[in-house]
Amino acid sequence: MLKPNNYYKDKKVIVRVDYNVPIKDGVIEDNNRIVSSLKTINYLIESGAKVILMSHLGKIKSEEDKVNNSLYDVSKELSELLGREVKFCKYTRGNELESMVNSLESGEVMLMENTRFEDYPNKLESFCDKELSSYWANLADEYIMDAFGSIHRNHASTYGIASILGGTTGFLVDEELDHLKEVIYNKNKIIILGGAKVSDKIGVIKNLVDDSKKILLGGGMCFTFLKSIGKNVGNSILGEDKINYCKELLDKYKDKIVLPIDIVTENGNKNVDNIDDNEIGLDIGNNTIELYKSLINSEDLVVWNGPMGKFEDVNYEKGTKELLEYLNINNIKTVICGGDTGFASKKYGLSFYYISTGGGASLEYLEGKKFDILEVLNK
Ligand code: 3PG
Repeated sequence: MLKPNNYYKDKKVIVRVDYNVPIKDGVIEDNNRIVSSLKTINYLIESGAKVILMSHLGKIKSEEDKVNNSLYDVSKELSELLGREVKFCKYTRGNELESMVNSLESGEVMLMENTRFEDYPNKLESFCDKELSSYWANLADEYIMDAFGSIHRNHASTYGIASILGGTTGFLVDEELDHLKEVIYNKNKIIILGGAKVSDKIGVIKNLVDDSKKILLGGGMCFTFLKSIGKNVGNSILGEDKINYCKELLDKYKDKIVLPIDIVTENGNKNVDNIDDNEIGLDIGNNTIELYKSLINSEDLVVWNGPMGKFEDVNYEKGTKELLEYLNINNIKTVICGGDTGFASKKYGLSFYYISTGGGASLEYLEGKKFDILEVLNK
């Protein structure tokens, strides 16, 4: 939780935000993460703090990645949203960075270039390098963690600085954690899980199945479950090493875990008993959409992570789109857990009770994992 605003007056405050946003040809396709960071930034501006924003963008494994993953466009978008200048520093260390930081006036805002530029060639940011962490920590007086999407990463700009400077969580992180706690404690919940990899979702199923009414599966991850009960899934995505475990889960929770009864492949809508060897499942089918709708009641809390199919292709978007529309039209209290599902909601212009800014982070929280950075903050 942030400190009273007079506390930050004239102080240099690093705010770790998550501006890892989709950018195509210089256009930010989804600015939800930037918009969500404004509350903390405005609070600090009004407090008279000198605001130093840090974020990563994409993954940096070469010099070319640096060209394609600059935060410059983000600084322009942020400046527009804030209605004031945001200084942009194209260096992640050195004289220019230091003098920009030291010449900030109270109430001014700057954004440093992508923290992961320090990942090439030595992965200093991602390996939470001590020297880099203390170099960044020494730039400022205070640290605020408001990058919910990165809160599960122990990197130099997250855990590294926090473990030296201490600090607090920002408004966004507090709001995210409040909503996720609400999800965990609510026993009237329906969980919708999709996305590609079954291994990413098993922890959530294990942790929350007892306190959920139903878990509805779709996306690439459902094929490992279908395979585990003997269905032919053709060439669909499969987590071979998880087949037995999926079977165990289905045996134990047969009344709770619900699998698709039909699938859309490149050859159209198919019953799950009729998938051919060379077919790939790309969306849940029409009967499954209707089944899943029928299992959701108006008093339920729906939690959704991962699309039902390859929604970026109009031929395979129906499962994701129609279920999202159903929840929206029927005013079902829904928490969308970031990532692709958040992007899909935005694409279809749908709003929900809460759309988290962190896909991976919210999944880890729902799995019951603890975030190390929270141990060193708010002390
Ligand atoms: C995200 O988009 O999930 C966060 O920004 C974290 O990004 P990462 O998975 O590249 O660490």
